[in-house]
Amino acid sequence: MHRITVIGAGIMGSRICRHFLGAGAAVALVDPSPEAREGARASFGDGDAAPLFVASVQDLGGDWQHCDLVIEAVPEVLSLKHRVMAELEAFFAPETVIASNTSGLRTSELTRGMRHPRRFLIAHFFNPADLIPAVEVVPGPDTAPEVVARVAALLEETGKKPACLAADVPGFIANRLQHALMRECFHLLDSGVADAETIDTVTRYSLGVRLALIGPFLQRDLNGLDTHLNIARYLYEDLDARRTPPEVLADKVASGQTGRKAGQGFYDWTPERRAHMARIEALLPQVVALSSGTDAKGVSDTDTKDEEDTTCRNG
Ligand SMILES: NC(=O)c1ccc[n+]([C@@H]2O[C@H](COP(=O)([O-])OP(=O)(O)OC[C@H]3O[C@@H](n4cnc5c(N)ncnc54)[C@H](O)[C@@H]3O)[C@@H](O)[C@H]2O)c1
Repeated sequence: MHRITVIGAGIMGSRICRHFLGAGAAVALVDPSPEAREGARASFGDGDAAPLFVASVQDLGGDWQHCDLVIEAVPEVLSLKHRVMAELEAFFAPETVIASNTSGLRTSELTRGMRHPRRFLIAHFFNPADLIPAVEVVPGPDTAPEVVARVAALLEETGKKPACLAADVPGFIANRLQHALMRECFHLLDSGVADAETIDTVTRYSLGVRLALIGPFLQRDLNGLDTHLNIARYLYEDLDARRTPPEVLADKVASGQTGRKAGQGFYDWTPERRAHMARIEALLPQVVALSSGTDAKGVSDTDTKDEEDTTCRNG
């Protein structure tokens, strides 16, 4: 049985914990905040497998020092992550892998000051972490290849789709794509081309339905690369290329309109919208099942690629 320690019982930590428990692992969840531990505890039903809750790693028994993997999911503040990393290095045995769930900090920034950076990497889960299959695995310049292979195998064994990056870039793959898409969305909104709801509708019913089933490169192959090139020749120069976040976003945040949690963002978060959103979130497993059903198993190209890639199978 795998033993996993998760540091931070917030949005991500509690659901990462749920993922590994669901896969039959023994899990310890560490958070100094009694409220956070209580919130996470309440999210596990009476009959569910539950983690061991503790306030600090020192409260874990000595045998936990040799667990397979520790994943930190504390707030995205580099100085805090450095403090936590020093605690983890001091407590866990040198063979225990330490991973960070950072949204986009670089491995080389996180490992500054670490004594054994070879056992460290980023394992970036997506929210909700127990339901979204992909996990971006980002080794740093010092990470040992066998550590990457061990983490990728563990993730795959527990039902995730690990995707290993070959370079330590900020934002990894998904956040870079998300921000490129949103930069253009903000530009369209700002230039009066369409309102937020129209942009959402077009995105959802065109790119959205396709992207749940096939990736952008496969989709472009379907459309014809010559056609894509012809369009790219005239379109690139018209696309937004700003290098700082747009005012429309900064203004929303400055006025407290931060989205669902504030009751107002680009949408008004009425009780009806909240209920609708809860129904949509409940449908996620069906979308994941549909998406996984389109994996190209049995297609010779894919099989060959998987066999060649021995350190991490890109999901
Ligand atoms: N929220 C998301 O959608 C999302 C998605 C992917 C990655 N991430 C990343 O995951 C990490 C956690 O994000 P979150 O949204 O779960 O944050 P969160 O604020 O919901 O939870 C963080 C938890 O860490 C705890 N904590 C603070 N100091 C600690 C310490 N020294 N030891 C142990 N626990 C401590 C806090 O009490 C809190 O419960 C961040 O790096 C974030 O960028 C977030």
